[in-house]
Amino acid sequence: MKHLFQPARFGDLQLANRIVMAPMTRSRADDKAVPTAVMVDYYAQRATAGLIIAEGTSPSADGLGYCRTPALYNAEQIAAWRQVTDAVHAAGGQIVVQLMHCGRVASRHNKPAGSRTVGPSSVAAETQLFTDTVGMADTELPDELTRDDIAAVIQDYRQAALNAREAGFDGVELHGTSGYLPMQFMAENANQRTDEYGGSVENRVRFTLEVLAAMADAIGPGRVGLRLCPGNSYNDARDSDPAATLSALLKAIEGMGLAYLHMMRAHVKGLDAFAIARAGFSGALITNDGFEPDTAEAIIADGGADAVSFARHFIANPDLVERIRQYQPLSKFDRKTLYSPGSAGYCDYLPFDQTLMEKTP
Ligand SMILES: Cc1cc2nc3c(=O)[nH]c(=O)nc-3n(C[C@H](O)[C@H](O)[C@H](O)COP(=O)(O)O)c2cc1C
Repeated sequence: MKHLFQPARFGDLQLANRIVMAPMTRSRADDKAVPTAVMVDYYAQRATAGLIIAEGTSPSADGLGYCRTPALYNAEQIAAWRQVTDAVHAAGGQIVVQLMHCGRVASRHNKPAGSRTVGPSSVAAETQLFTDTVGMADTELPDELTRDDIAAVIQDYRQAALNAREAGFDGVELHGTSGYLPMQFMAENANQRTDEYGGSVENRVRFTLEVLAAMADAIGPGRVGLRLCPGNSYNDARDSDPAATLSALLKAIEGMGLAYLHMMRAHVKGLDAFAIARAGFSGALITNDGFEPDTAEAIIADGGADAVSFARHFIANPDLVERIRQYQPLSKFDRKTLYSPGSAGYCDYLPFDQTLMEKTP
């Protein structure tokens, strides 16, 4: 596993190893999108990751969509995140936050009164979301963003990047996939605009690039990462030519000096997104989705990636890094507590040595 344990520098981020914790929504914030005390423990327990990418976090009230997800647009949220970043830093880790604007993938039951649901066009996403108040609910019909609205949303991301810095984060990652706002602009079914943000592929990637540029200008490009997964149809996003979208994005971000590109495996026939990203982007590449310790080691050893991120393995293995180092078995998580409030199934998974002690009579 020697490649996984080599330190790395990604832009302004210094990683102690190449095992990254992927962003995971766990719905442990309070109903005002403020991080809670259990989140401090949860992230601190995982601080041995070379880099933690904290869960999807909204840059604005309008950007919220799910229940109990955190945000970064007011002083209370910033102060609560500060507890998390301080604890991770005290434990020797590095942590960036993923900025996730849900756009049209939202239920009003999960958002503050007075907030709007917006999208590139007024077309609802054909999906449902869980809410604490009414159970499963349809998504809202979004308001089509005007050009002035788009400028304001970009400004929200910029301010959220500054707020992330104030909250002690080492950087931010733009969530550019899974059917959220940047992906909605890229997707032909969600984006039916006829202005410079719709139509051609160059126009459909414009929003993502302008958000990235605003955040890079605010906190420095070496502290900004981008997450992509071409052709990902999750949350009703349809892109008929994901290879063209990826290539337009890569061309535009090459030379921006971003900290990293975080690629999820593309589940599109004939599209090797990892290889295309490696060839078209000269910065640091983190690959994700379905990796095991040995396959992660192999892709780095073969030069196909600079780091690998793990999501699910980090849920029940807070000491995943140590377990990989020592070839210890990995624990399985309980699905029932993935999104439930409180510490159960969240920050009560034990490191390997304590697991053994508990089993000893
Ligand atoms: C509970 C859960 C929540 C997730 N939330 C997010 C999220 O907020 N942002 C994101 O980009 N991906 C999210 N993902 C996707 C993961 O980051 C990752 O891409 C996926 O689980 C595949 O990686 P793995 O095979 O290592 O688990 C989530 C996955 C899980 C299991």
